Amino acid sequence: MTAFKTLDDLGDVTGKVALVRVDLNLPMKDGLVTDETRIRASLPTIVDLAAKGAKVLLLAHFGRPKGERVSTMSLSLVVGAVEKALGKEIMFVPEVSGPVVEQSVGILRPGDVAILENTRFWKGEEKNDPEFAKAIAEVGDFYVNDAFSAAHRAHATTEGLAHLLPAYAGRSMQAELEALDAALGNPEKPVAAVVGGAKVSSKLDVLKHLVGQVDHLIIGGGMANTFLAAKGVDVGKSLCEHDLTGTASEILETADKAGCTVHLPYEVVVSKEFAANPPSLRTCNVHEVAADEMILDVGPSAVEALADVLKTCRTLVWNGPMGAFETEPFDAATVALAKTAAALTSEGSLTSVAGGGDTVAALNHAGVAADFSYISTAGGAFLEWMEGKELPGVAALSS
Ligand code: 3PG
Repeated sequence: MTAFKTLDDLGDVTGKVALVRVDLNLPMKDGLVTDETRIRASLPTIVDLAAKGAKVLLLAHFGRPKGERVSTMSLSLVVGAVEKALGKEIMFVPEVSGPVVEQSVGILRPGDVAILENTRFWKGEEKNDPEFAKAIAEVGDFYVNDAFSAAHRAHATTEGLAHLLPAYAGRSMQAELEALDAALGNPEKPVAAVVGGAKVSSKLDVLKHLVGQVDHLIIGGGMANTFLAAKGVDVGKSLCEHDLTGTASEILETADKAGCTVHLPYEVVVSKEFAANPPSLRTCNVHEVAADEMILDVGPSAVEALADVLKTCRTLVWNGPMGAFETEPFDAATVALAKTAAALTSEGSLTSVAGGGDTVAALNHAGVAADFSYISTAGGAFLEWMEGKELPGVAALSS
C-alpha cells in the first residue's frame, strides 16, 4: 500500500481550518435521509478534528447538478441529519469559497463544524479546475480526504485540493484503504472473490483483473448465465448477454492460465416467470434448464460446495448478489453463502471485505453485514478498486 498521512500525523491544530472532503451523497426520500451509513462513516474524522480544536469545514457533493445551483440538491437539506448524528449544531454556508466562507470561518470557534454548499454547483469541481481548487484552499490550513467512495473522481475537492494544502487521509478513508489492502493488495492466501450481479458487461474489467489476483473466482447472479452459455450450456430464457460469450470464454482461459479456479453454478433454481414464490419454481442441474425457464438463483447443493471452497480460503472479497435476491426465494443462495462467510469471519479463519452497490443491501438482507471484517461504503469506487485501477483521490494523498 502506498504511504499516506493520517490524522495521527497532525500537530497542534487548535484554531486551524480543516477542509474535510466527506461523502454526503445520501439517498433521500420525501426530504428525509433514508440511509445514514455515509454520515456515520464520516463521524470519527469530524469528532477527532473537532476534539483537536480545529474549525471543521465539510466539503461534499450531492447528486449531479452539473455546475448549476439546484435547490433540491443543496447540502442544506442534509444538515439536520448530520447534526443529529453528530449531536451538535452545524453551521451551513451557502458557498464554497470567497467572502461568505471567510466570514463564516471568522465566526466559528475551535471545535465548531460547518457544511459548505454542494461542490458540484460549480463547474470547476468536476473539471478539477485549479483556480476553483485554489479559491477553496484559500481559507484552509490543511486538507483531509475522508471520502473513499468519491475517490474514483478526479475532482477539485477529491483530488485537486490534495496538491494545494498538507493532505491527510481521514479515519474512514484510512479504514477503507487498510481493509482493501488486506483483501487484495497484500492478502493472506488463498483468496476467493465472489462476483455477482445481473450483467457481465458492467463488471468485465473487474473479472479480467480478478482472475490474475485470486485463487477462486465464484461467479453468481445473471452474469453467471453468460459464462454458462459460453461453455455451451442452454440457459433457456435466462438473462444472458449472448454477445459477450466470446469475452467470457477469454476470461475463463486467462483464469486457467493464471491458476484461478472459476466456480460456476452446476445446480440452479429456475422458474417460468420472475415473481415471488412462483408455482413453476424448481431446482435442477444446470444442463436441464428448459427453453421456457430462467435461472434465478444458485441451487442449495451448489451453494454448499461453494461454502466448502470458502472454508479453504483465508481472504474473501465480495461484490454482487448470487441470485435475484430482492425476490423470494431467490435470495437463498446469497443469504446462505453470506452466512457461511460471516461465520468463518467470526471464527477468525477468514478476512472478508464486501462493497459496491447492491452488495451491502444483500448482506444487510442476510443479516450478516456486521460480521464481515469490513463493508465498504463505496459503490463505483469499490468497483474501480476491484478493477485494479489507481483511484485519483487516493493517489493524490500519497504523492
Ligand atoms: C457515490 O455515490 O457513489 C459517490 O458519491 C460518487 O457519486 P457520483 O457517481 O455522482 O460521482
